[in-house]
Formats: sequence, structure tokens, C-alpha cells
Amino acid sequence: MEVSAITTWEDQPGLQSAAQISRPSILEALRVEGTVSTLIGPFFCLFRKSKTGFGHGPVAKRRSGGNQAQSASPTIEPGTLARSRVVVNTMSTPPEDLPVSEVSDIYPGIDPKPHFDGQTYAGKVILVTGASRGIGSEVALFYARAGASLSLLARSKDALQEVKESILSQAPKAEIITFVVDVCDSQAMKNAIDGSARHFGRIHIVVANAGRAEIYTKPFTEYDPANWWKTIEVNIRGVYHTAHFGLPYLSITSGYFIAITSIGAQTRLPFASAYPLSKHALNRFVEFVRAEQPNVKAFSVHPGGIITEMSKDYEAIRQYLVDTLQLPAATLLRLTSGKMDWLNGRYVSANWNLDEVEKDWKEKIIEQDALVNRLHIPV
Ligand SMILES: NC(=O)c1ccc[n+]([C@@H]2O[C@H](COP(=O)([O-])OP(=O)(O)OC[C@H]3O[C@@H](n4cnc5c(N)ncnc54)[C@H](OP(=O)(O)O)[C@@H]3O)[C@@H](O)[C@H]2O)c1
Repeated sequence: MEVSAITTWEDQPGLQSAAQISRPSILEALRVEGTVSTLIGPFFCLFRKSKTGFGHGPVAKRRSGGNQAQSASPTIEPGTLARSRVVVNTMSTPPEDLPVSEVSDIYPGIDPKPHFDGQTYAGKVILVTGASRGIGSEVALFYARAGASLSLLARSKDALQEVKESILSQAPKAEIITFVVDVCDSQAMKNAIDGSARHFGRIHIVVANAGRAEIYTKPFTEYDPANWWKTIEVNIRGVYHTAHFGLPYLSITSGYFIAITSIGAQTRLPFASAYPLSKHALNRFVEFVRAEQPNVKAFSVHPGGIITEMSKDYEAIRQYLVDTLQLPAATLLRLTSGKMDWLNGRYVSANWNLDEVEKDWKEKIIEQDALVNRLHIPV
């Protein structure tokens, strides 16, 4: 594996803002350690590709916001750059994203209308963690509108109740139960998942969506260790609990286990260690689900870059959070429809046009067992 020369901020005078860093990309970004990780926090949604490959900058609508990105550049404390003189692997590694057209909203390939009109999920039971807002609540809504019953988990009792009422106003026939639970609490998770199965008699789909993220602007040695570990705990232990107690039920129904990951899992940006590390491990965890649970289909799904409670305060990246909440929700309806089971055990991005993925990449993905975490060995 080739290791690049040490690259510092001073070596990159032209790369002063995220808007000026083009998507060759995450790879290039890795060379500009201080700049990028400070600006983009844990979501890493800035770097999108065009169909033609990786030689392009952010998509046009993002590029137009370049000045804002520049003015949003945070102040870098003296000393931080010197500390960021880390050796990072860079330009020789292959891209870690599929070169297909990117999507930001519902497109024909994930049109939910046939599911809504045909009630394609009638009789199915869906359990969603982190369902009190954001991506989790929208995913729950889409399944309910497609006819499913729901078990919704989160810590905020009132917010869960509001989500339940909101879903019922749009899908009055849905049966919905809620559990106020912290995903890190093993006993509470057991009670919630067993309770869901007892109530409905079965569980067909589990969406492990609850997650935690922070902006990182300094090396991890400068943060409170407990805070760093909390991100790992929620994103890994929480998903582990969800899988541990959910998979036996999914095995019975030949169901689906979805872990909501992030494109950040594929990055190695200095300072942003906890979140991408947790999501990277999550992707491998899904590979273990595939290896150990022959009856279950599992995907780790990047939902896109979306303004939510978690992301809304990241001023520097706000302009890049352009995807809709409906994008991951509709994507999941397709992924758990039975037509995409060949992606079992793999990383999938809601930003990929799945029609193209299927048409242009399916064969190669299966043949090379791709879209999984793998050590890059020089050829
Ligand atoms: N938004 C994006 O652009 C983006 C991009 C990539 C990946 N993601 C991933 O998408 C998932 C959902 O994020 P979001 O953007 O929708 O954020 P969000 O609006 O902040 O929602 C996070 C959800 O997780 C729940 N949660 C957090 N900690 C929990 C815990 N310890 N126990 C139980 N529930 C917990 C929250 O509910 P309570 O606070 O009520 O517990 C909330 O329902 C996360 O896994 C995130 O990493 C988001």
C-alpha cells in the first residue's frame, strides 16, 4: 500500500475551503486533513460524483454555494495544523464509492406510490430505532403508508407519541406501538424487541437507525474520552443490541435487517474518528449478519445528506445537506421488497441510482463480492 508524502495545510494554499475541493475527492480530501475534517464534520456529504467518474467536483447545485462554504470556514487554532501533520494514505487507493448517477430525492426507481397504492407491506411488522424524528420517523411513515404495522423505539417519549399521531393521521389503518428505550441498554432493548414480537406475533424488518454524531475539529487526544466512546457506543452497541434481540425473529420470517450507516464510513479524515470508525465497523457488522444468519437479508445503508436534528447545527456543511428525508425512506421500500436481495451483506448508498447499480454493476458486485470492507492489497 502506497503511503503519500506528509501533506499539510501549508502545502495546499489553493485548497482553503470545501467548495474548492473537488471530488476526486474524498481521496484528495484525505490530503487536506485540517481543512476538510473541520469543515464537514462526520457526515462527509460534500463529495459527490457525476456519472462520468471521480474527476468532478460537487454537483452543480452544491458548487453554486461555494462562497458560503468559504465564508463558513472555521477558525483554525494555531498549533492545530502542526498537530495535523499526520501521514494519511491517499492517491493510489481506488475509489470507495460507485460511479453511478447520484440522486437526492425520489426517482422512478424508488417511487413509493405502487407500494402505497398496492399496500405491498400489509401484514408486515417493521421495528425502527431512532424513530422519534428525522430519518427514522420518515422511514416508519413510508412503511406505514405501504400497509405495515410499526414498533417505534427512541428515548423521547413525547416525540415518539407525536410521530405516532402524525403517522396515524396519514396512515390511519396502521397499528403502531412505541417503546421508550435507550439502544445502549441491553435489558430495555430485549424488553422492547421481545415485547414487539409478542404484540404482533412476528417481526419482518428491523431498521437500526438510532445514531449519534458530533463535529470534530481536533485530534481525538484532545477530546473527553467518554464523549468519544459514547458515539461508538450508540452507533455500535446500540445496533448490536438491535441485531442481537431482533435477528432471531427475523430469522423466523426470513426478514431484513437494515443498519443505517454513513458515507463517512469510507473515509479516514483526521479528527473525525469516532463517527466514521463506528459506521465502518457497522458495515463489517452487517457482513457478520450475512455470514451468520442465512435466513436474513442485511444491508448497511447510507441515507444521504439530510438536514435533521443531528446535522442541522453543522453550519459549514448545511448547504451540502440537500437530500430529502423521503430519499432513504423510499430507498428502503425498494431494498426490502425482495428484489434487491443480491445486495445482502453489503454497503448501499441511497444516493446511488439503484437502477444503474442493478444494470451496470450487479454482475461485478456479485462476482467480486464487492461493497464490503476489505483491506486493499497492491496488485
Ligand atoms: N442526517 C444525515 O445527513 C445523515 C447522514 C448519514 C448518516 N445518518 C445516520 O442516520 C441515522 C439517523 O440520523 P438523523 O439524521 O435522522 O438524526 P436525528 O434526527 O438526530 O435522529 C436520531 C434518532 O436517534 C435516536 N437516538 C439517538 N441516540 C439514541 C439512543 N441512545 N437510544 C435510542 N435512540 C437514540 C433519537 O431519538 P431520541 O433522542 O428520542 O432517543 C432520534 O430518533 C443515524 O444513524 C445517522 O448516523 C444521517
